[in-house]
Amino acid sequence: MQMIHYSSCTAAKLYSLYKALAKAFLCQTRCLFERMFSVRTLEGPYFCFVMACLQLLFLLLMYQRSSSSWSGAFMEKLPDKWDYSKLHDVYFNLSFFSPASTEDLHHCPPKSPLLVGPIRVNFHNVPNMKRIIRKNPYVQRGGLYTPRHCVAQYKTAILVPHRNRETHLRHLLYFLHPFLQRQQLHYRIYVINQAGNGTFNRAKLLNIGVREALKDDEWDCLFLHDVDLIPENDYNLYVCDELCPKHVSSAMNKFNYRLPYRTFFGGVTAVTPEQYLRMNGFPNSYWGWGGEDDEIANRVNYAGMNIVRVPLDIGRYKMIKHGPDEGNNANEKRFDMLTKSHKYWKVDGMNSLEYKCISKQLTSLYTNITADIGEAPIEDKNSVPES
Ligand SMILES: *[C@@H]1O[C@H](CO)[C@@H](O)[C@H](O)[C@H]1NC(C)=O
Ligand SMILES: *[C@@H]1O[C@H](CO)[C@@H](O)[C@H](O)[C@H]1NC(C)=O
Ligand SMILES: *[C@@H]1O[C@H](CO)[C@@H](O)[C@H](O)[C@H]1NC(C)=O
Repeated sequence: MQMIHYSSCTAAKLYSLYKALAKAFLCQTRCLFERMFSVRTLEGPYFCFVMACLQLLFLLLMYQRSSSSWSGAFMEKLPDKWDYSKLHDVYFNLSFFSPASTEDLHHCPPKSPLLVGPIRVNFHNVPNMKRIIRKNPYVQRGGLYTPRHCVAQYKTAILVPHRNRETHLRHLLYFLHPFLQRQQLHYRIYVINQAGNGTFNRAKLLNIGVREALKDDEWDCLFLHDVDLIPENDYNLYVCDELCPKHVSSAMNKFNYRLPYRTFFGGVTAVTPEQYLRMNGFPNSYWGWGGEDDEIANRVNYAGMNIVRVPLDIGRYKMIKHGPDEGNNANEKRFDMLTKSHKYWKVDGMNSLEYKCISKQLTSLYTNITADIGEAPIEDKNSVPES
């Protein structure tokens, strides 16, 4: 079940509803039949056949309804198999889209005419900031962009936890800006910097990013994005699933374009602000590398939601190679903490978030939020609050 469709979340919910309905329906119809024809039992093959047909009809109706939603209708037209030997430059044809006059500004179409599919991604040259700025003339201060030739249907904030990874950040900005412009989104890129030399805390930085981003705009969708992952197919839309948190980086080259394990939720994920708050955000207590993404996957379930995954042939990402970071050693306690996560997800998260915002700079290509997030507890470096 790795190739989960975008609408599988809706489908899963509909299916359980369907099962309950079908059960009631079956019972009712049987009673009715028994009365009408005054027969005792209707276990025969005909009855089963009629029931099966009715159920099939019902399923078909359900399916049509779920796939007529915006993304469903759009995803249906995708090719069966992407050809990753035919690649496009991520800036291909972007410059042909000149601004429309304000009078004839329409809503952007559900499917952007700029999408090309597989994108060429390599890291041979590290682009300098000036070059990236020159190639993205319509990006405004703070890394904000609004389509110039139509009214965007969707607002997405990209949140990137960061410290001392300037080279990766430049690669990311070089690829992500045109990538998102191809999708005709209104978007803004936030880089959330951890101040000081203490142990890195990705999840807490993301909590901070969400809080700060929601002060700026009413975002439809929050993309929680590792700095070293570059998307390879622009049909991988940076929009949220309305019902379920979405795992976006389902196929990373590091894992041979497969899921490393079934519940993997790391790399790039997308949640609506409502979904984020419903799971009380992310844990603040995961210092160091690892574990927090599994904890987040657990939280999704505790909060009564399911994870949807972008299909593997679209959710492809290239990871920029790097050695281990200083101040981001593996979190030794992560397995122990995970077993306790159901106890404290309600008390450790957005509702217990404390930090000091040191600066918020609007640079040409991103908003730089620098925060003092405190230190890992010294006694017990990865202590878990008791509930
Ligand atoms: C790219 O732009 C050229 C010139 O406007 C156009 O002929 C071509 O169809 C465009 N290609 C795509 C894939 O949109
Ligand atoms: C962080 O480490 C660098 C070099 O290791 C050092 O120069 C700097 O003073 C340290 N900063 C703080 C806030 O401790
Ligand atoms: C963000 O701002 C801080 C504070 O001015 C600065 O030290 C840091 O280098 C900046 N980071 C990035 C990625 O621009």
